[in-house]
Amino acid sequence: MEKPNSPACERNQQPILDVLKTLIKPTDKNLLEIGSGTGQHTVFMAPNFQHISWHTSDLKENHAGINMWLDDANLKNTIKPVIYEAGKSDFPQVNADIVITINTLHIMSWQNVQSLIVQLGECLITGTTIIIYGPFNYDGKFTSDSNADFDVWLKQRNKHSGIRDFEMVVSHMLNAGINLVTDIEMPANNRMLHFLKN
Ligand SMILES: C[S@@+](CC[C@H](N)C(=O)[O-])C[C@H]1O[C@@H](n2cnc3c(N)ncnc32)[C@H](O)[C@@H]1O
Repeated sequence: MEKPNSPACERNQQPILDVLKTLIKPTDKNLLEIGSGTGQHTVFMAPNFQHISWHTSDLKENHAGINMWLDDANLKNTIKPVIYEAGKSDFPQVNADIVITINTLHIMSWQNVQSLIVQLGECLITGTTIIIYGPFNYDGKFTSDSNADFDVWLKQRNKHSGIRDFEMVVSHMLNAGINLVTDIEMPANNRMLHFLKN
């Protein structure tokens, strides 16, 4: 098997890292990544946070690729992936201070997004930071023509995928006891949503 490569990761990893440096605290110990994908983000970002253990997760089918990136990088603070599929799996057993998920909410179905949010509410302790990166709609509208085109492409690929409404995500998070702290504008019409578990 060839090591997987995601050009999107290469484009967005530095801006995401720059924001993470402002959100990850020196006292944080464990970060859980939901939907690690290729594992590229993990090996790019984890070396910048030597004080945290970076736990990866994804569907089983992505583990071989993630392991190739982790093995090649041979970092001391990355943890091999656990199986996690929102809507199917129990929530990973990690005492996470931070949960991050990058470009996953528009891939998984809205039903699975809701399952994920319920689990975040049930399984995370007070004070946990939750960071969600990706494109979002506001007031039911796309924020750019490119996001509208992207949504068409996503739905052709899988009818259950699609760009999520910011307000719906925030409202479900609130119902799960999770408050929005900041909504950060990112390059290429993406957002970084920073939440805190009550
Ligand atoms: C576009 S990729 C993003 C991967 C990586 N985070 C990145 O930014 O490169 C979407 C990821 O979401 C994962 N995914 C899809 N459905 C999921 C679900 N129900 N629960 C958790 N992860 C899911 C996929 O396996 C894939 O790794």
